[in-house]
Amino acid sequence: MSVTDPQPPAPDAARTDAAREALHDRIAADSLTTRRDYLRIVATVSGGLAVGGVAVASGILQRHGDPDGLPAIKKIADRIEPGESLAFRYPGDEDRAIAVRMDDGTLAGYSAVCTHLACAVLWRRDRGSEGELYCPCHEGVFDARTGEVTAGPPPRGLPKVILIEQVDGSVWAIGTARSGESLQEGYCRQRGEGSPLCTRLEGGATERSEGA
Ligand code: FES
Repeated sequence: MSVTDPQPPAPDAARTDAAREALHDRIAADSLTTRRDYLRIVATVSGGLAVGGVAVASGILQRHGDPDGLPAIKKIADRIEPGESLAFRYPGDEDRAIAVRMDDGTLAGYSAVCTHLACAVLWRRDRGSEGELYCPCHEGVFDARTGEVTAGPPPRGLPKVILIEQVDGSVWAIGTARSGESLQEGYCRQRGEGSPLCTRLEGGATERSEGA
């Protein structure tokens, strides 16, 4: 053999080329898998967002606490003292609600389901002059006296639970009002314009009554 003839690859060089090709194939296969997984994740997240968007758009979250039928009249406490809050269920057994009594004696009831993404709303008495209703999921804050949004992403105020207080101090839930609806509007919509309390609820968050 002449020194100018092409030399066959050394056995080690051939093994190195084969290993490099095998590695290249494996990387290509991995990147395909990764791309497929990525597309699957994107599709799943997009699908979740779409379902969530449809749910919000169709008012599923907004309707929370707004029963189809007439809500029951339900005693929720023997008494709620100033500065106290009470978690309860209303109008349905699955509907989280909260009652708070502010230091000036005002009693207010709300759905405890955040209007953003339905996390539980909590009472923080030590915030501001009157306390606040707070959603820890995304720092949503609601005014304790009105239920309106004061900070964070919730798109609307909390639906209300209409509370009355009897002369013996017991507290009763007698209806609900939607976000942005007054107690009177909610009560009259549910119980009818002819109901005795329909006009008496005007402008008041609490009614002290001999009977609902
Ligand atoms: S779920 Fe309440 S602020 Fe997002």
